[in-house]
Amino acid sequence: MTVTDTVRLATIGAGRIGGNHAGLVARHVPGAALAAVADPVPGAAERLAASLGAPYATTDPAAVLGRDDIDGVLITAPARAHTDLVVAAAAAGKHVFVEKPMAVTLEDADRAIAAARDAGVVLQVGFNRRFAPGFAAARAAVDDGRTGTPQLLRSLTRDPGPFTADPARIPRWTIFLETLIHDFDTLCWLNPGAAPVRVHATADALIRPDAKADGHLDTAVVTIRFDNGAIATAEASFSALYGYDVRAEVFGSGGMVTAGSGRSTDMTYYGPEGMHADTARRDTDLLRPAYLAELTAFADAIRHQAPPPVTGHDARRALAIALAAIRSVETAAPVDLAEVTA
Ligand SMILES: NC(=O)c1ccc[n+]([C@@H]2O[C@H](COP(=O)([O-])OP(=O)(O)OC[C@H]3O[C@@H](n4cnc5c(N)ncnc54)[C@H](O)[C@@H]3O)[C@@H](O)[C@H]2O)c1
Repeated sequence: MTVTDTVRLATIGAGRIGGNHAGLVARHVPGAALAAVADPVPGAAERLAASLGAPYATTDPAAVLGRDDIDGVLITAPARAHTDLVVAAAAAGKHVFVEKPMAVTLEDADRAIAAARDAGVVLQVGFNRRFAPGFAAARAAVDDGRTGTPQLLRSLTRDPGPFTADPARIPRWTIFLETLIHDFDTLCWLNPGAAPVRVHATADALIRPDAKADGHLDTAVVTIRFDNGAIATAEASFSALYGYDVRAEVFGSGGMVTAGSGRSTDMTYYGPEGMHADTARRDTDLLRPAYLAELTAFADAIRHQAPPPVTGHDARRALAIALAAIRSVETAAPVDLAEVTA
């Protein structure tokens, strides 16, 4: 591929985030085209492909992987399908962007990493927060040394409420494996060069206490100790009535940076009843520039045969923290990362 060639991408999984990513690739990612959509639910791929002018739709992801006119795939299927799709895509010589979590076991994470390495394809993981302008500026301040020695870090995710989903349809431990996994990556990324060593988690069903007996958890706090001494907290809720809210903070010997405000614009309305700021109801609205930037980076990594900015190893590290947090809840005790990764 030369640098002027169009990067031809296919979406595997035409649900909520697959539709978002397919739309960005079809209309906004420079030098990329949406070449195909696959989804096993009859009609789902056809509808998305037709709405975006993609030439090919199928219910069979393997059919996409067998095509010569596709350079890379976006794996946006449910979490537990990710690893097998990464392995199949890599074996077919396709570059891979996979949504988080790349895997839900460390064995599967290793399998995905090895498959991409052996095939020599790009493997990028969907930790989009790194690409949000405020988060990227926070990391730049850390890199410049402006925050000094990191002491305290924070990252939070609050999904927009009210929570209306059926808890029975949410896989067990989702709050760690699919929600807080973003925060675990953010905290590691904002503390570059340091390794997480110890995790202590507490979680509950405060939004749907009636579902707790079936294993549902919707509220959690995790503390993470790093080998450079820094102490980090990650927290999540499935129901913030004011909107979607993601934020991060690094506090160190030289100062502090924060990123994210929960505001969807920087407009403030001042009126008789006080001040009002707008918030977003969807991640795809609040973090739209971040999704566009991560997909642009994926296309660039393919075009330039360059390492992707978020790797399979980054995904494995965040997963290890999630697995340690799960064990910490199960045992009501702190967990050394070494216990999980051994
Ligand atoms: N990075 C982010 O901000 C972000 C946001 C939302 C979701 N996600 C992640 O994206 C993934 C999908 O989430 P979603 O909300 O779009 O789910 P969804 O249920 O809306 O969509 C999943 C789609 O995949 C299809 N599918 C099921 N099995 C498949 C298979 N084996 N091969 C191909 N397609 C298959 C389903 O029919 C469905 O259309 C999850 O891992 C989730 O954690 C990431």
